[in-house]
Amino acid sequence: MFFFKRKKSVQNEEVQKKVEFDSSNLPQLIKYVKKYSGVDLSSKTDVLTRRFTTFCKQRDIDSFDELLIMIEKDTSLRQKFMNLLTVNETYFLREEIQLFSTVELLKEGKKRVLSAPCASGEEVFSLAFLAHEAGVSEFDIVGIDLSSKAIDKANESTYSSRSLHKFQKEQVLKYFEALGENYRVKPKYQRGIKFKVCNVFSEEFQNLGEFDAILSRNMMIYFNEKYKLKTIEVFHKLLKPQGRLYVGHADLIPQNQLYKKITKDRLTYYEKI
Ligand SMILES: C[S@@+](CC[C@H](N)C(=O)[O-])C[C@H]1O[C@@H](n2cnc3c(N)ncnc32)[C@H](O)[C@@H]1O
Repeated sequence: MFFFKRKKSVQNEEVQKKVEFDSSNLPQLIKYVKKYSGVDLSSKTDVLTRRFTTFCKQRDIDSFDELLIMIEKDTSLRQKFMNLLTVNETYFLREEIQLFSTVELLKEGKKRVLSAPCASGEEVFSLAFLAHEAGVSEFDIVGIDLSSKAIDKANESTYSSRSLHKFQKEQVLKYFEALGENYRVKPKYQRGIKFKVCNVFSEEFQNLGEFDAILSRNMMIYFNEKYKLKTIEVFHKLLKPQGRLYVGHADLIPQNQLYKKITKDRLTYYEKI
C-alpha cells in the first residue's frame, strides 16, 4: 500500500513538472530574435514572457529552450513566431514629403523602388497613387516584410474605412472599390507592384536586384546601432549609383561613409556615395 502511494506521488510530481512552464531561457530567445531579424526586444521582457509562453502552450512546447530548438529547425513555426513579435503599425500617406520626392524620381524615368519594410502595403500603395496623380504609371515597386501576416494583408490589398482617413472622399472612390464594409485597391493601382515575405538580413534580400530608391521607414527604430549599420550596408549594395535611401524621422541612422545626407526644407534622404 505504502509502495503504491509513493508511486502515485511520483506520478503527480511528473504531471506537476509537465504543467510548469520553463521560461528561464528568455535571454537566449531574445538573442536569437536579434541575430535573425535585428529586432531588439531586450527592454520588453515582461510582456514577452507572457506572449511567448502563450505561444508555446498553444503548441505543447514546455520551455523557451524547446522553442528555440524548434524555431531553428522549423521554418513555418519560425515564421509564426516572427509574426508574433513584429510591430506592423503603418498608415496611408505616412511622411508624405518623402513619397512626393520618390515620385519625382519616377517622373525622371527611374523605375525601381523598394519598400523595406512595407508592412501591410499602405506605403507602397500610397506611392503608386501619387505616381498616378503625377501621370506616371510605369514603375516597379517591390514591398518586402518579415511578417507573412502583413504581406498576406498587402496582397489582399483590402483595408478598413478607418485606415483611409487621410484620403478625401473622391480619392477613396478613385483608388478603391468597396468590398463589404472594407475597401480594396482597384486593379489598375495594383499594377507594377509586388509584395514578398523577406528578411532584410537574408541572402534572398540581397538578390532582389538594383533599385533607384529604397524606403526603409520605422523598422531600424527597433534595431541597435550594429544592426542599423548592417542594414544600411545591405541597402547600399542594392542601390544604383546615387540611389536614394529614405528613412523614417525616428530611425536615426549611425555615422557612416556610405551615404551623403541631403536635407532640403523639410525633406531628408541619404544619397549613395
Ligand atoms: C512599423 S512597420 C513600418 C512600415 C512602414 N514602412 C511605415 O513606415 O509605415 C515595421 C515593420 O518592420 C518589419 N521588420 C522588422 N524586422 C524586419 C526584418 N529584419 N526584415 C524585414 N522586415 C522587418 C516588421 O515586420 C514591421 O512590419
